[in-house]
Amino acid sequence: MKILAIETSCDETGLTILNAENKAGGFSFEVLANVLASQIKIHQPYGGVFPMLAKREHIRNLPILYKRVLEKAKIKEDEIDVIAVTSGPGLEPALWTGIVFAKELAEKLKVPLVPTNHMEGHIFSVFAQNKGEFTIPKIQFPALSLLISGGHTELVLMKDFLKYQIVGQTLDDAVGEAFDKAARMMDLPYPGGVVISKLAKEERKSKNKNPNELIKLPRPMMYSKNLDFSFSGLKTATLYLIRKLGTLDEDLKRQISLEFEEAVTETLVHKTQKATEKYGVKTLIVGGGVSANKYIKKGIEKALDKKINILFPGKGLSTDNSIMIGIAGYLQYIKKPTKFTYKTKIKANGNLKF
Ligand code: KG4
Ligand code: ZN
Repeated sequence: MKILAIETSCDETGLTILNAENKAGGFSFEVLANVLASQIKIHQPYGGVFPMLAKREHIRNLPILYKRVLEKAKIKEDEIDVIAVTSGPGLEPALWTGIVFAKELAEKLKVPLVPTNHMEGHIFSVFAQNKGEFTIPKIQFPALSLLISGGHTELVLMKDFLKYQIVGQTLDDAVGEAFDKAARMMDLPYPGGVVISKLAKEERKSKNKNPNELIKLPRPMMYSKNLDFSFSGLKTATLYLIRKLGTLDEDLKRQISLEFEEAVTETLVHKTQKATEKYGVKTLIVGGGVSANKYIKKGIEKALDKKINILFPGKGLSTDNSIMIGIAGYLQYIKKPTKFTYKTKIKANGNLKF
């Protein structure tokens, strides 16, 4: 079955056509075509995503990318069997653009329309590939997902396939947001996580013998009993530190980046480890833009019980994309096909939960 997936929840317009099959050995997918238009350059002057600009860009991109994805997949639009579109969470003006486009297309083609949870997409991104074929193997449950992105920081427990329960989450800022804000404070470009991790790596490599002793940041919520996170205190501490240091040269920026990345990593690792012990987790899935961070990845792999199967997304699949939306949408569709028609009621929900 051919599934068209549409993602417009934030600053990436993504369209994918997957050929999906429910085989005896599991679900198998083939990427027939995948196109993505990133708006990073457009939002960079604002140090974050500007929702109205994102909306305008999605509206402009969608018809162009739709034509391109069909051409690349070498199919006609009447070969599409199902349309999956992100309905949340995300920026509502941005989400609506994809939804309106998908709705009109579903009505025109008379094919089922599947509202898809962006975070469920991030979970399944660990099984995806940018091209070619891939399958979803049998997952050992209980599984846990650490979802870390610009909008979310949450621990999702999965006792069974497609059964989700949030067991920990941020009480304020998301971890990616904290990276982005810290970067902005140091006059570093958006998206902050990428540049902070690059500077931190340089600092780690340099084996600085004279680090500035003022550069110490808190490890938020390390000693709280629950599995929740908080990053706004770290953000404020970073702001005060920067004020105290006065003018920042490249050397100080590298040192702050290192300390910031370590503070974030220790917190994420600690809570994730605690959750795996509490629930006897057999599989850990890490997804979302921040999961591209190599230092965090190493920290998690080092700290967790070696018996746990740890899965990260492949290159280019940590950040937002529509391949993951195609997988999540297909799995929801196949669970109960009769639930979906071309008239499926669907609206943008910025705070969509599991
Ligand atoms: O999942 P995503 O593409 O969009 C949302 O759904 O939010 O995540 C974007 C976030 C940004 O905050 C960005 O700074 C962060 O992911 N990010 C990173 C890295 N690459 C992207 N954070 C830390 N280290 C990275 N290497
Ligand atoms: Zn995302």
